[in-house]
Amino acid sequence: MDPHYTEWLNLLVRWVHMIVGIAWIGASFYFVWLENNLNRKNPRDGLSGDLWAIHGGGIYHLEKYKLAPPQMPEHLHWFKWEAYTTFLSGFMLLAVVYYLNASLYLIAPESGLTPIEGIGISIASLVAGWFIYDFLCESALGKRPALLGVVLLVLLIAAAWALSQVFSGRAAYIHIGAITGTMMVGNVFRVIMPGQRDLVAAIKEGREPNPEQPARAMLRSRHNNYLTLPVLFIMISNHFPSTYGSEWNWAILFAVALLSVLVRHYFNTRHESQRFAWTLPAAALGMLTLAFVTHPNRGVENSAVSSQVTNAQVVAIINERCTSCHAANPSSELFTAPPAGVMLETEAQIIANAARIHAQAVATQAMPLGNLTGMKQEERDLIGTWIAQQAK
Ligand code: HEC
Repeated sequence: MDPHYTEWLNLLVRWVHMIVGIAWIGASFYFVWLENNLNRKNPRDGLSGDLWAIHGGGIYHLEKYKLAPPQMPEHLHWFKWEAYTTFLSGFMLLAVVYYLNASLYLIAPESGLTPIEGIGISIASLVAGWFIYDFLCESALGKRPALLGVVLLVLLIAAAWALSQVFSGRAAYIHIGAITGTMMVGNVFRVIMPGQRDLVAAIKEGREPNPEQPARAMLRSRHNNYLTLPVLFIMISNHFPSTYGSEWNWAILFAVALLSVLVRHYFNTRHESQRFAWTLPAAALGMLTLAFVTHPNRGVENSAVSSQVTNAQVVAIINERCTSCHAANPSSELFTAPPAGVMLETEAQIIANAARIHAQAVATQAMPLGNLTGMKQEERDLIGTWIAQQAK
């Protein structure tokens, strides 16, 4: 496909994915907040609570029923398309970015997988993720939510490690996000919606609703709530090669996910008590510690190359390994404009971008993408030494 049109397709699908994702997660945050802030003192008959709010110049009065109003309203709004369209647009985005250019973005250069094999593993991971998750929730573990949460977190991180063996770092990350997002949508589609349909039908027919449904829906909707922050981190992680590009990328993901789940827990409990207020400073400290321990200069200084490196040597390497893409007019047929607006043709451009070059090609091996241009470790070391010299 013409790379120019792929870029516009990417733009369109990404834009839609972001909009519907905001609608979904926004509604989820709003209803959790509403539930936690209901005024439950002396509610009117049949109500479990109410809440007054002002927004956009108007005053609102919301009431929550214990079960249902005496008469079901004609129009009952269901929140489901936010979730479904987030899944559909997300899968399309996965296809546009990672399947159309699988050797560039999806597959780890040293894994030797073909694009078709890579795409097969990708789709299989989404399907397997849902069935394993659903099985665990319905098993005896489902009755022990805290233990189940720990098991799920460990399994997801194990999957991150496994996928990072065959996929590029950023693809491994985005797949953990996609697997988790699929679980969340599966919860809406297979558990929460059927439960709500049964509830509404039972009220209309005047029978008792299935008592198991609310408990199942509650467990799944709690999972969705706790998973939002880690998933949102993964969705922006593409921009941060020091996370996905690290050799320890799966461990970094584990740490960030854990910290964000702690923060979520505080926000879920703070209306009752401040017992978990410590999670906020702990998470901030955790992020600072992560920034510190992931610093590329930790450990050995570049000892591979000790002699003085000249600008000309670096320009020659960059011109060989990078400028087929990073030029005003890329010679690579994969791009019609310099990717991310980064041009590395002249010495001045290379010096100006030294820090970014370091982040992408020395500290991590995020660039060259898919190592299409076959950059060697000695060349990375040489550029690393040059940048250290520049800093002095
Ligand atoms: C096969 C094409 C290709 C080659 C070769 C390539 N890049 Fe890139 N580069 C890209 C693409 C595509 C992006 C945008 C990445 C994205 O979509 O997030 C990019 C982004 C970048 C960025 C910007 C990242 C940011 O967000 O700050 C830098 C810096 C960079 N590349 C450096 C390099 C260096 C240095 C080399 C050579 C060692 C190189 N690239 C080789 C395709 C390439």
